[in-house]
Amino acid sequence: MQRVVIFGHKGQLGRDLVKLFQSKCEVVGYDLPELDVTSPEIYKLLDDPAPDLVINSSAYTNVDLAEKEIDKAFLVNEVGARLIADVANQWGAPVVYYSTDYVFDGMQRRPYREDDVPNPLSIYGRSKLAGEKAVADYNPRHYILRTAWLYGPGGNNFIEKMIVRSQTAKKLEVSDDEIGSPTYTGHLAQMTMKIVETQKYGLYHATNTGECSRYQWIKTCFEHLNISLPIIPCSRVKFIAPAQRPAYSAMDNRKIRATIQWEIPTWQEALLNYINRRGENN
Ligand SMILES: NC(=O)c1ccc[n+]([C@@H]2O[C@H](COP(=O)([O-])OP(=O)(O)OC[C@H]3O[C@@H](n4cnc5c(N)ncnc54)[C@H](OP(=O)(O)O)[C@@H]3O)[C@@H](O)[C@H]2O)c1
Repeated sequence: MQRVVIFGHKGQLGRDLVKLFQSKCEVVGYDLPELDVTSPEIYKLLDDPAPDLVINSSAYTNVDLAEKEIDKAFLVNEVGARLIADVANQWGAPVVYYSTDYVFDGMQRRPYREDDVPNPLSIYGRSKLAGEKAVADYNPRHYILRTAWLYGPGGNNFIEKMIVRSQTAKKLEVSDDEIGSPTYTGHLAQMTMKIVETQKYGLYHATNTGECSRYQWIKTCFEHLNISLPIIPCSRVKFIAPAQRPAYSAMDNRKIRATIQWEIPTWQEALLNYINRRGENN
């Protein structure tokens, strides 16, 4: 692999993708405001030399606002995904698209596998599922990587929101009945590089290994950071939000683990990696 194009390279995941892929090949990044992936202008890129791989980490990721901005969410997550997959196809390059655990309704009580039937509860989840289909329709050489509870340096992620809240609160209530598979961007970037090396196209659940509640996640994090604020487990129904989220969306990552032959770190190991890198802004 000599040349990789990354859309959304300024985002939380995009920055870690750039970092990793830059160590191996030439990386060309596109993001707002220079390039809008939903604009037909994107086809002008076909005048540029064809890359060996296209990675789409651009997305509309505001889960709650998406309930209001329905058209915008679908425009970026479905139409943008389709245009990128098509451009990649015309270049003769495979494409990577990231999807989400929010394509599931959370009614299951064992980790979700690739062959489980999606049933998104939110506009964001529906728009990402529509994006999956568009990518598969427009580029046969696709990797669709469903990830979850993503966090990375400089991102406005759940951990950072809780840390900000802890600076003024006397205690912090965090739900212990919302279960998922938190995933660190550094590890997702590594999974991406390893899966594209296999050329085994398809759908994968690409998360750190294991599951936890949001309460366990933040409690473990605060212990490492020596934040002594009391953390109180509570029910997720206490937090009323515009978008409905699955109560249980742990992901079974065995398929990607077996394919890339990498013992993907657990969420606990991933958290330590993140904490060691916190504050990094590039
Ligand atoms: N964050 C999570 O918890 C989570 C969970 C599961 C799956 N995912 C998926 O993982 C992927 C990476 O997420 P992330 O957290 O890294 O997202 P992010 O930090 O929001 O990054 C997305 C990037 O895409 C850019 N973008 C948005 N609309 C665009 C457009 N029309 N044209 C060009 N660029 C555009 C954003 O720019 P602006 O910042 O200027 O809008 C941003 O730089 C996404 O596919 C997301 O759906 C995320």
